[in-house]
Amino acid sequence: MAVIDVEDVSKEFQARRADVLALSRTTLRIEGNQVVCVVGPSGCGKTTLLNLIAGFLQPSAGRVLVDGSPVTRPDSSRAVVFQSDAVFPWLTVRRNVEYGLRLRGVDRTARKERVDRYLDLVGLADFADAYPKELSGGMRKRVDIARAYASGPEVLLLDEPFGALDIFTREAMWLALHHVNLAEPKTIVFVTHDIEEALFVGDRVIVMTPRPARVHQDITVPFERRGDLDLRGSKEFQDMRIQISRSLREVSGDRD
Ligand SMILES: Nc1ncnc2c1ncn2[C@@H]1O[C@H](COP(=O)(O)OP(=O)(O)OP(=O)(O)O)[C@@H](O)[C@H]1O
Ligand SMILES: [Mg+2]
Repeated sequence: MAVIDVEDVSKEFQARRADVLALSRTTLRIEGNQVVCVVGPSGCGKTTLLNLIAGFLQPSAGRVLVDGSPVTRPDSSRAVVFQSDAVFPWLTVRRNVEYGLRLRGVDRTARKERVDRYLDLVGLADFADAYPKELSGGMRKRVDIARAYASGPEVLLLDEPFGALDIFTREAMWLALHHVNLAEPKTIVFVTHDIEEALFVGDRVIVMTPRPARVHQDITVPFERRGDLDLRGSKEFQDMRIQISRSLREVSGDRD
């Protein structure tokens, strides 16, 4: 159960025209096995935050800690899934999912066991020997998720992972993620533009300010019925959707 602490973190980029302050003294604690969705205006610094937690970037000031240890570089305890799928077209689904395990020298029997388990959990058990070109966009995304889980991380960092999918496929992905995470809970940071997605997937929704990103609002999501898409029809759900949408308009400077 990995706990993530973003402690007073600033991140400045040296750009050609002018320096860009993406994060300014951002503080955020994410408890073990919590699913935290991050929403905020485009360009506010969400991906930067994720990259700092992943260890792809280092803070200009402040610290990012996982279980009390500073993050200094990427490692296999934190898996990242981006919007564009990262499957290798020349490898079968099985080879894709076991890619990280092979790199780490995990033996064949253990690899097969893990790959079978996660392909089953994401609903791709019958496609282990297929090539990515034979899969739909949603299925390729499932490969990404299976690969992320198979590598055995404690933390999953998802940057608009379903952003390129149509709504029906996206809904199916929410359920797939719910299903996998129920079997094997992880600490998850999930960046999205979609408020419904944030409410459906997250235990908590963080609304960021425009750049430099800081936490504007930190909302606890109280719903229990994650496996049920009809949850969205409920009054509590719609009330929270309106609340977050208002909060986003507020930070963006728009008024009703
Ligand atoms: N490597 C970099 N060099 C210079 N500036 C950068 C770099 N990476 C990000 N930025 C700038 O930092 C700011 C935050 O970018 P970031 O990608 O984190 O935003 P975001 O919230 O993920 O946006 P979106 O919702 O559009 O994905 C932007 O102004 C961006 O131009
Ligand atoms: Mg981004």
